[in-house]
Amino acid sequence: MTTVLVAGATGSLGSLIVKNLLERGAEVRALVRKPSTDKPAAHPNLTLCVGDLADGSDALQRHVDGVEVVVSAVQGGPEVIIDGQRELLRAAERAGVHRMIPSDFSINLFGYGYGINVLSDLRRVFADAFATSTVARTSVAIGAFPEFFLGPVHEVLDPAAGTFSVWGDGMRAIDITTIGDTAAFTAAIALDPTTAGREVHVVGQQLTMLELRNEIEAASGRRWELVRRGTLEDLRAEIARRQFNASSVVEYVALQAQVAMFDGTAALRDVRNADYPDVTPTSVAAYLARRGAAHFAAPQVARQRGEWPTPV
Ligand SMILES: NC(=O)c1ccc[n+]([C@@H]2O[C@H](COP(=O)([O-])OP(=O)(O)OC[C@H]3O[C@@H](n4cnc5c(N)ncnc54)[C@H](OP(=O)(O)O)[C@@H]3O)[C@@H](O)[C@H]2O)c1
Repeated sequence: MTTVLVAGATGSLGSLIVKNLLERGAEVRALVRKPSTDKPAAHPNLTLCVGDLADGSDALQRHVDGVEVVVSAVQGGPEVIIDGQRELLRAAERAGVHRMIPSDFSINLFGYGYGINVLSDLRRVFADAFATSTVARTSVAIGAFPEFFLGPVHEVLDPAAGTFSVWGDGMRAIDITTIGDTAAFTAAIALDPTTAGREVHVVGQQLTMLELRNEIEAASGRRWELVRRGTLEDLRAEIARRQFNASSVVEYVALQAQVAMFDGTAALRDVRNADYPDVTPTSVAAYLARRGAAHFAAPQVARQRGEWPTPV
């Protein structure tokens, strides 16, 4: 039985990775900061480990002793994605861990360079730490979570105005994978030793923005007026404008992701769904018919400027 430590086990993605690993028969250690809140449901193969990446590698060591694979699904700024994950990697090295899946779970962030997306830059800096590590890196790329892409932070759907906004021509295929499917693929990838040292691309569905709008109109039974916001150059200029006044990266990072999605640099390559035939991804139509239908209603609580987004 493979033993896997999951950091970020209370998060939207991490909690589902824990569930999927247990369903696949793995022995799971869930790293949680507070034992009392949102802890995973009890299971005979699940051990709760209380710890914070900020505690440092010495304190984290006991949690990774005897572990074969570390999966990180933490979220945060440089102190978490670079410094915190580096402490976890150092502890993993000393424990003889074979592989680590860092908290990437993104569009293909290695398809473009530094300076395009602040959150990708953090993940790219952390990836460099594996160059001298005995632990092999397995990076998982999935495109965009619809739970966020169709939520307020991306400014694509505006339920109150009844609009669907597009930068560029909307004709290039983008990659969309639900949080649940990402967790299912990640559990399979974590237990697949052939992924050591690789970037593994898996996807729910690939479709253009114009096709996505058609899916949304079909699922919601209403018309969404197409708003063409400008060219990709206009989008880059809008990001630069926002960066001057932003109180938080949340005010522009979603648009940064859209630049790389719409110019094709973040497109998934060599998609490996066929390696994981027991994962049946959710189509966009199926997502919109169930949980995703929440995107069609205007949010009850207005978001504060710069507030970190939450999935539907
Ligand atoms: N592709 C996409 O469209 C997309 C969209 C959103 C997110 N993502 C990616 O998915 C991954 C997971 O995101 P998420 O939305 O699931 O995040 P989330 O729900 O905010 O969960 C973050 C987790 O990290 C934990 N954490 C934060 N700092 C920590 C620390 N210092 N030590 C230990 N644990 C810590 C949190 O613990 P507490 O519960 O104690 O706070 C929580 O369990 C991230 O890499 C994120 O960038 C991708």
